[in-house]
Amino acid sequence: MATEHFRRFKDISVSERILNTVFLLTIGLGYLAALFNLYYTHQGLDGKAGLSIEDVVISYHGSNDRTRLGTAITGIMKSNLKYLSDQDVILEWINSGAEEPGYNEKIAPILNRDCIICHNPSVNPSLPDLTHYAGVAEVAHAGGATIPRLVRISHIHLFGIAFILFFIGKNFYLMRYSSGG
Ligand code: HEC
Repeated sequence: MATEHFRRFKDISVSERILNTVFLLTIGLGYLAALFNLYYTHQGLDGKAGLSIEDVVISYHGSNDRTRLGTAITGIMKSNLKYLSDQDVILEWINSGAEEPGYNEKIAPILNRDCIICHNPSVNPSLPDLTHYAGVAEVAHAGGATIPRLVRISHIHLFGIAFILFFIGKNFYLMRYSSGG
């Protein structure tokens, strides 16, 4: 007859059972909250309501129609445009790849007129530099998450996952398994 060498649920005190129960309830709530968080942070980025794979791709990898420049001129920087029709000119340029020839021909005149009063390294070094192509290209191409950001997010999550794994694992091994005999 095999002897039981390991502690199981039947061996633990009521206090420890309560602790395990409360832990499972709390982590269950945490899981639900995480799902809602995922939904609210990422849903709709692709322009359609609801969460889709495309939303997650845009968040972490970026997309050509969600560039910082595109978002700025349709949002907080819109009022700086002298002519609203220039918004379409800039968006079209972004969508067609934000190349330098198009910049020289159509985009530089708009930015030089409406934007570089502020977006100029000698005035505001912390703002995107819109005085030349390289600076503009930086905000006109898909960004997505940078490697340092992914590392920062991953290290926090890996620490968290280690704890969750450990405590949920403990609940599993307190169970009695049927060994078939
Ligand atoms: C009056 C000064 C001013 C003018 C003019 C101005 N901006 Fe800005 N811009 C700012 C400031 C200040 C910020 C930072 C806003 C913030 O971070 O909340 C900013 C931020 C931005 C950003 C970065 C947004 C991000 O993702 O962080 C872009 C892109 C941008 N502006 C584009 C433009 C364009 C294009 C124009 C011209 C149509 C323009 N801005 C005109 C002051 C200006």
